Amino acid sequence: MSLPDQRSEAMMDHHTQVSLTRKILDLLEQGSTSLAESIFLNPVSSYTCPEHLELEQARLFRSSALMIGLSCQLAGPGDYLTDDLSGVPIAIVRTSEGGLSAFINVCRHRGARLLDGRGTLKATLSCPYHGWVYDLHGRLRQLLPNDSFQGLQCAERNLVRLSVLEQDGLIWVHPVPGQRIASPCLSGVLADEIGHYGFQSFSHYETRLLRKSFNWKIVIETFLENWHFPFLHRQTVLSIFLPAISQFEPFGHDARLIMPRRSLLTLRDQPQEKWDLLKHSLVIYLLFPNTLLLWQGDHLEVWRVYPVPDKPGQCLAEVALYTRHAATSTRERAHWDKNMALLLETVVEEDFKVSEQIQQGFHSGAQQHLTFGRNEPALRHFHRAIQQALHGDGVLMVRTSI
Ligand code: FES
Ligand SMILES: [Fe+2]
Repeated sequence: MSLPDQRSEAMMDHHTQVSLTRKILDLLEQGSTSLAESIFLNPVSSYTCPEHLELEQARLFRSSALMIGLSCQLAGPGDYLTDDLSGVPIAIVRTSEGGLSAFINVCRHRGARLLDGRGTLKATLSCPYHGWVYDLHGRLRQLLPNDSFQGLQCAERNLVRLSVLEQDGLIWVHPVPGQRIASPCLSGVLADEIGHYGFQSFSHYETRLLRKSFNWKIVIETFLENWHFPFLHRQTVLSIFLPAISQFEPFGHDARLIMPRRSLLTLRDQPQEKWDLLKHSLVIYLLFPNTLLLWQGDHLEVWRVYPVPDKPGQCLAEVALYTRHAATSTRERAHWDKNMALLLETVVEEDFKVSEQIQQGFHSGAQQHLTFGRNEPALRHFHRAIQQALHGDGVLMVRTSI
């Protein structure tokens, strides 16, 4: 189940793979890593202050499109999924024409929740409370009972639509009715690069939802540097990765961080035509503000992280594992189960234990700021992007709509 060379080349063009591999090998030779221009101080209050969280909710989680999942979760007509992590009950349905329709998952009669989890609808969806029926576009079919809603037209009680966009196998929804996703959610070099992976043909394997007692940003931070591996992950992933080197590149508010596997060293003895970066590294894409795509050599791991309203010290973190082909055999399932187990052991049992202690330590009065070193450029980038989105002019908010 390893990644065939030609497939990997199709997932990121070979020129880019060679150029990035060269940069990593150069850093290795210099005994260095990608460096920020200076150290960065991040206020502890940004993890603890309810007013700060309120601003984040407004400027980060209600003012632009949110990445909800991959297209394969809604492969056929009538397939639906629901999502509540943002605090807005969202339902997305694949219509019979093949497009997506998104709406607030609330009945227009007396407000009952319409759909749960994931599943497949026939031609309509029906409210579990009094049976109002909507089509897959969210249009109310009939006001029932007939003689009870005189003067009202069906069209006045259609479901409240949300703007939805499917781009290269990723699904984005704007959580605020009336706000439109006006342009592609990813653009330029990053869009091209992510488009190459072909996520539209991937298969969903498993999703886990974790409720944690620390600020949502700490989950993102966990993945934005790897020099903690020799200390925290000695028993788990240290044997797989080169520990203190990563290659970082920003794309607007988004970013890419590459953590080379130890096996990447074997490329030094191979001709460039054979260099296969994706097989020998963990490639992390930060899709600002709260989504991480982790290319794990032969599969994709997606993290989506949300704050809990009014609770700066709590978050919801969802991780989903996607594979290039549906797992059909016991052997394949065992392989992906093993991957999920290692992921949970590393992140939940090791990283998140520290994250909880960090959140507790915030309230100790030990310090007013955290200090990010020059060897933590992705952390600096993430927090500068947040500061810009919260307090700046918003020029870089590429997914903001009108
Ligand atoms: S609340 Fe949906 S039909 Fe009454
Ligand atoms: Fe970690």
